[in-house]
Amino acid sequence: MRRAAAPSSASVTIRAYNPETDALAIHALLTDAFDTPAEADLMAAVLADAVSDDDDNNDQRTGTNYSLQCYAAVATSATDTVIGTVLFSPVTITAADGSVVAVAWGLGPIAVAESARGCGVGQRLAFAWKDAPDAAGVPAIVVLGARAYYHDKLGYDTAPDWGLRFSSVELDEHFFILPLDADALAAAGLVRGASPAGSFAASYHPAFDAV
Ligand SMILES: CC(C)(COP(=O)(O)OP(=O)(O)OC[C@H]1O[C@@H](n2cnc3c(N)ncnc32)[C@H](O)[C@@H]1OP(=O)(O)O)[C@@H](O)C(=O)NCCC(=O)NCCS
Repeated sequence: MRRAAAPSSASVTIRAYNPETDALAIHALLTDAFDTPAEADLMAAVLADAVSDDDDNNDQRTGTNYSLQCYAAVATSATDTVIGTVLFSPVTITAADGSVVAVAWGLGPIAVAESARGCGVGQRLAFAWKDAPDAAGVPAIVVLGARAYYHDKLGYDTAPDWGLRFSSVELDEHFFILPLDADALAAAGLVRGASPAGSFAASYHPAFDAV
């Protein structure tokens, strides 16, 4: 069977996620893209915290409050069908003494419907944070993913070169950073090449632990 032709990226709209109308479509899209509902459930759990604006959302480990600190976007086709989504959520950066020195945004999950891949929709979603009302205060975007995509194609830098580690040394080669505000990062102690990998630790929302 022939696959439907991918849409041209120009006919695709990237807009903010609407919890009233997009939740079901996003859940189905992520479940399909990842072959399990884990990422879909994760995104729903993080967004539930984001809209509740509740002090109970404090992560006991880092003190981060997730309320209103996320940004999610969707890609829609010319027929207004949801064909992609991305989540940006807080990632706390802590120094060796456990103090929180910065809060970045973590990119992911991200997915594009199979029939729409390969024409730049993923790339546009990866930069959708630019439309977020809170983007000006975000010092960096971090992501755990494929070097060929995030480093080679989207211009991310290797996070361990900034001293930053996610979870374990084994993941160093898969962890990337897009610095947005070098001054803010420097004030937090993160300067490229200045400190060994593992000097700073990155922590996502606890729901990421389940994936
Ligand atoms: C990753 C994904 C979102 C990219 O969406 P997309 O709209 O196809 O992305 P773009 O059109 O911007 O880029 C496509 C290019 O990236 C490459 N690419 C995509 N995923 C890649 C990966 N994991 N590793 C290496 N290259 C990858 C494609 O081969 C293609 O290369 P080309 O331009 O040389 O042909 C999409 O492939 C997807 O939904 N995958 C399943 C879910 C997933 O793995 N998400 C990422 C982990 S959170």
